Amino acid sequence: MKKVLITGTAGFIGFHLAKLLVAEGFRVHGYDGMTDYYDVDLKRRRHQMLLQSPGFSATEDLLENYERLSQAADAFQPDVIVHLAAQAGVRYSLEQPRSYIDSNVVGTFNVMEVARQHAVEHLLMASTSSVYGANEDMPFAETDKADTQLTIYAATKKANEAMGHSYAHLWNLPTTMFRFFTVYGPWGRPDLALYKFVDAILDDRPIDIYNNGEMYRDFTYVDDLVRGIRLLMDAVPVRPGSSEEIEEDDSLSHVAPFRIVNIGNADKVMLLDFVEAIEEALGKKAIRNYMPMQKGDLHATWADTGLLQRLTGYRPQTDVRNGIARFVEWFRDYHGK
Ligand SMILES: NC(=O)c1ccc[n+]([C@@H]2O[C@H](COP(=O)([O-])OP(=O)(O)OC[C@H]3O[C@@H](n4cnc5c(N)ncnc54)[C@H](O)[C@@H]3O)[C@@H](O)[C@H]2O)c1
Repeated sequence: MKKVLITGTAGFIGFHLAKLLVAEGFRVHGYDGMTDYYDVDLKRRRHQMLLQSPGFSATEDLLENYERLSQAADAFQPDVIVHLAAQAGVRYSLEQPRSYIDSNVVGTFNVMEVARQHAVEHLLMASTSSVYGANEDMPFAETDKADTQLTIYAATKKANEAMGHSYAHLWNLPTTMFRFFTVYGPWGRPDLALYKFVDAILDDRPIDIYNNGEMYRDFTYVDDLVRGIRLLMDAVPVRPGSSEEIEEDDSLSHVAPFRIVNIGNADKVMLLDFVEAIEEALGKKAIRNYMPMQKGDLHATWADTGLLQRLTGYRPQTDVRNGIARFVEWFRDYHGK
């Protein structure tokens, strides 16, 4: 069975992906720096759960420590690398922009170097729907021009896509970049709306609703998302021959084994409907604090998932009400509330 090095396994998505791959019999090595952007205890709990499985081992260090990352890869000899570790969060990037340069630009460069040294079969790396920035045509397709990032977070992810393309081209390194759309589910991130809303409503604190709730997000349930990643691991991009036609709606590069793929739910949900679904799952009303639109926020995101479906035959489809109910169940159990 293949060996997969995953960065960011103490994080929300990396944890779920590692769990899925280990259950399928892969050997997984996790690499995570346990940064204190949010509750480190939650990260430790995720890693502890993974470490119960003999198929999982881990190194705790920063991506910026190239020597350590390289040593971990030398010892493990990965066939595939899935790079999910990053300084995430749109709003925090207004406060601490440097953290995004360090983790996402320098860190991703180090991962690409390791992937090149080990000539892995496939390098898969996380980008974000935020790279669509000020685009207005929806749903967002991978082949749309995406040059208007609105935050430094989005800009570092767009930089990762460009860096990934150059390495795919120079070193013949098959590379897939994912553009994820607002991921949610059990073991989710405390800095994201769902977690904050549930926590506040249970404690009778008001919740901040930006732009009077007139925002739309393509919410993707985490199990659907990691299933999409798993299937894309087998969809290895190849360098097209000079005479080959690339399908119009395929983002495959015409010079490099490189592709960008949206993973979203292909549906957009209004923030107010999202809040109502949370109230329903909790059986309790929120105290609503309506706020203006925040700097750098996108009005809407909505994924065209046609390429994912053509490459894998799969389309995420968890209904947001079911997904929220599952999150609430986990939250209450985890926090004993
Ligand atoms: N969750 C979403 O809605 C979403 C949406 C779009 C893109 N993404 C991207 O998906 C990936 C995973 O996101 P997530 O939601 O699991 O985030 P997360 O913050 O839960 O996980 C990221 C993990 O990376 C680790 N990390 C951060 N900086 C590091 C560094 N410099 N060195 C080593 N480890 C470091 C953190 O400790 C954390 O455990 C990220 O690349 C993120 O940008 C997430």
